[in-house]
Amino acid sequence: MPAIIIVGAQWGDEGKGRVVDNLAGEVHLAARYNGGDNAGHTVVAEGHTLRLHLLPSAVLHPYVTCLVGAGVVVNPVRLVAELDELAGLGVDVGPERVKLAAAAHIILPTHQALDGAGETARGAAAIGTTRRGIGPAYADKAARTGLRAGLMADPEDFGERVAEVVRAHNRLLESAGVAPLSPADVAAQYCACAQRLRPHLVDGTALVGETLEAGRVLLCEGAQGTLLDLDHGTYPYVTSSSAVAGGALTGLGFGPRHVSRVIGVAKAYTTRVGGGPFPSELLDEHGERIRQAGREYGTTTGRPRRCGWLDLPILRYAVRVNGLSELALTKLDVLTGIHPLQVVVAYRRGREETRHLPLGFGAAGLEEWRPVYEEMAGWDESLGEARRFTDLPAAAREYVARIEKAIGIPITLIGVGPERKQTIVP
Ligand code: GDP
Ligand code: IMO
Ligand code: MG
Repeated sequence: MPAIIIVGAQWGDEGKGRVVDNLAGEVHLAARYNGGDNAGHTVVAEGHTLRLHLLPSAVLHPYVTCLVGAGVVVNPVRLVAELDELAGLGVDVGPERVKLAAAAHIILPTHQALDGAGETARGAAAIGTTRRGIGPAYADKAARTGLRAGLMADPEDFGERVAEVVRAHNRLLESAGVAPLSPADVAAQYCACAQRLRPHLVDGTALVGETLEAGRVLLCEGAQGTLLDLDHGTYPYVTSSSAVAGGALTGLGFGPRHVSRVIGVAKAYTTRVGGGPFPSELLDEHGERIRQAGREYGTTTGRPRRCGWLDLPILRYAVRVNGLSELALTKLDVLTGIHPLQVVVAYRRGREETRHLPLGFGAAGLEEWRPVYEEMAGWDESLGEARRFTDLPAAAREYVARIEKAIGIPITLIGVGPERKQTIVP
């Protein structure tokens, strides 16, 4: 029975958290399938703002079981802190409801140090990572030298394994001129986390399989976005996991025949944090206006996000790569008062023009391609109170219709503010 996949259609921070929260009422099991605490997913409900880094954004819904899946890399210190924060808010985060897949990989503080050392070594070509140790942890996983969460079932043995890996990482850090970490201190801290997290460990694949076989609804929450995907994004300016819809299948361990909906999430404009290409980036007052109106500062690192016009070839690419069945369009309200609006409709190189992202996007050669813009009328009305499609001013309705026409799939949710209730279902 049905699995719903929620996936970022741009460079992350599209509002996946709020869309998951909007849909969570119909869901039995919600699972994160990729990334780690590089993610920051915001849910605003009844005046409270919650920023989630590891737990699924459906966690506020008491009848939903939550899983941190096998494809995720987990910093246990951060996970314990997130559980404590939610418990402090009165949210039930007990082991009957919040589960950690035994096959998920562990992030160590030495992974974070190696992430920082790698960024320093790249100099001007730095990726602008979140320095959460994501890349080095996935590298260890692929090299088969990583530690899986299931090892926490035996905290003392886990402590010894942690110390062993820290010693190996220290050799790398020393050769990069970075101070080593104390294996004993890290082991003690991780041993204590293991005591806490042990009751949450499960066979994630079994939980997902049983849910689907019982005809219950699984919601798969992607982190990052299509253009940050390791294989299909703007490599090397990407994250180290499968952020696309396919990552839900590999990261959670179920087959494609279960998938009933693939919902892409996109902002009504484009943002990106960190380095890498961004053809429609606005370095003028329009970009600053969007940054202020949209509060475009990173949820995880606080860095200002780069802002630009909506890029339809990017959305077409997301439809193709993820097999999107529909799109959730967020932050339409942020565009109020900008005249005129511009959207990228194609790319041009000399006389060549394409409606798709140019071949080799993200690699060498992109600079030769210029975005082709179409001008659209803006609007001055604030949209925060709109609850039906017909409440939107005509120019905003036309903007939405233009996107639908360009991407060939329906827009099934529109965000007109960060609050749960500031949602239009057309
Ligand atoms: P995620 O990583 O995809 O979950 O997105 P983030 O939480 O990092 O960033 C999205 C930001 O936009 C958060 O601060 C949300 O509260 C906010 N947001 C989401 N939807 C809307 C919307 O429709 N309008 C406005 N103004 N803000 C929104
Ligand atoms: P959510 O799930 C936006 C970016 C970083 C950097 C690149 C690699 O909230 O949408 P990493 O630390 O993953 O090795 O950094 O990816 N990045 C994100 N950008 N939203 C995110 O997550 C991101 N997670 C990583 O800024 O450019
Ligand atoms: Mg985010």
